[in-house]
Parts: sequence; structure tokens; C-alpha cells
Amino acid sequence: MTDPVIIGSERSEVGLPSGIAVLRRGGSALDAAEAAMRVCEDNESDHYVGTGGLPNARGEVELDASVMVGSTRAFGAVGGVKGFPNPISIARAVLERLPQHCLLVGEGAELFAEECGFTRAVLLTEEARRLYLEALGQDDEPVEGEGEGATAGDRRYRRTASALMRRLAPHAGPWGTINVLALDAAGELCVAVSTSGYPWKYPGRVGDSALPGSGNYCDLRHGGAACTGRGEMAMRACGARRVVDLLASGMGPAEACAAMLRDARSLPDPFAAELRALALTPDGRHGGAAGTPGSVYAFMTPDHAEPELLPREPVA
Ligand code: GLY
Repeated sequence: MTDPVIIGSERSEVGLPSGIAVLRRGGSALDAAEAAMRVCEDNESDHYVGTGGLPNARGEVELDASVMVGSTRAFGAVGGVKGFPNPISIARAVLERLPQHCLLVGEGAELFAEECGFTRAVLLTEEARRLYLEALGQDDEPVEGEGEGATAGDRRYRRTASALMRRLAPHAGPWGTINVLALDAAGELCVAVSTSGYPWKYPGRVGDSALPGSGNYCDLRHGGAACTGRGEMAMRACGARRVVDLLASGMGPAEACAAMLRDARSLPDPFAAELRALALTPDGRHGGAAGTPGSVYAFMTPDHAEPELLPREPVA
């Protein structure tokens, strides 16, 4: 019998109590991680997951999510899904009901979600739309040589959208993808990741959160890991898989996360936004690292009434 634990990235605190409730009554790590994540996805004041997520450059909310189970390394994911508020549950359905595949994107993922009976919803909230319009209005200087034949509106759109994409800057305030990692009493480990991705991203851009080894990896022999922040760097560094490999080599969770972040940082990247990582081992040790001092993650055991915040190791 293993002592259950659940951990999560910044802003997972709203969901972790639902996850630990599942673990407390002997439920599975997969059920716990999904339950916790669904609450996060439904939190409209969070602009980086589910309903209320910030949209792509065209003003549409596109969501990525994945789940991975440690004992089987089974993986289910969706990318670029529009119109469904809980992509984590669609990712789980891919894992359980479509075992011939691991990842569905766009229209196909939406078709599958419909077939599974998931309900459509409008995801762009008034507040997210306001932030989008505010950002869209920022770059209004004419650019030389803009395409002829386009309307003034088209030209303005292209100019502002590409400037926004170049900048890829998140708005001020708490930001980032959500990771939830759960270990159940039976000793199973599960990692769940959900995101609306980079704000104002190019339509169709899928980030690390949907990709095994990049934003999510879970191997019961060594541990699970997940990333938040600049997904392109998690993809280039194979961040989550790298952390698990470092756990396998004997490093502790925080140390493994920090080593991976240092490696990712050594890569050239003109956008150089922050990447963060979290890890949980099969014997219940956990830790995280981040580029910003003072960063934290949340954790709960069945004895916790509410989430406790722990420091991540800062990576200078
Ligand atoms: N880490 C989330 C993303 O880049 O989409």
C-alpha cells in the first residue's frame, strides 16, 4: 500500500482538493488527476486552461491536453481542440476508448469528442475576449510593403497578429499551463496536463502539453514529470522525458527538473520565455524547478485539508 499524494503547478490549487478526495477514498491516480484538472479547466478566472483560456491569433480558444499512466505508459492526448471545455476528459477517452491511437488534433478530435458524448460550449469568455482585443490593438504602426489587394482590415489583422506572434508574450499575472501528478494507494502514477497554449498563438499550433516526452511523461519505474511555460523549448529539450531519465539515473525530483531546465536554457531561443517542471516519484517524493525565484507548486496528501505550497528550485 502506497501513501497517496497529488501535486500540481501554480493555479492547480482550485482542483487538487477534488483530486485528493478521489485518492482518499481509494480511487485511481487517473481518476484523481482528471477530477482535479476538470476543476481547473472550469475555472473561468484562469486564462491558461479550458473555459476562459486566452485565444489564438484569430480569437479562437484552442486547447491541448494529455494524460499518461505510469505502469503501462499508455498515453492519450488532444491538440488544437475548439468548443469543448474539458479536453483532459477527451484525452482520457483517447487513452481508454481509442487504444490504436495516442493523439487526435483539431476536427478529428472534435468529431471523437462528439461521438463520446462530450458537450460543446463557448469557451471565449468576455474577460478573455477583452484581453485579446486589448492585445490586438497594441501594434498599429503601418509596415512597409504590406500585401496589395487586401482590405485595410486584413492588413491591420496580419500586422497585429504577426507582431503578437513574434512577441509571444503572456499578459501580466499568474500564467501557464496546468500540470497535475497523482500517486494512488495501489502505487499507480498518472500525469495530466491541460492548456489553452500560448496566448495569440498561430492557429493550429500544438504545444508540448499534448506531446509525450515534451510536456508530459510518466513511467512507473522512475517517476512522472510535466512542464509549463514555453512549450517549444519543452519540445526541443524533450523536457518531461528528460526529467524522468534523470530520475532513473538517481537524481531527486527537484534536482532532475533543474538539470532539464538548465539544458533547455542552453538552446538558442529568441523568445526566451520561462519553462518550469515538476516531478513525482513512485515512492512519493516530489519537487520542481523554475527560472523565476519564488516560484511554487502545490501538493496534498489525504491528511491535508487544503493545498500546501512548496518552493520550486530556482534555476539562475
Ligand atoms: N506549455 C504550454 C504551451 O506551450 O502550450
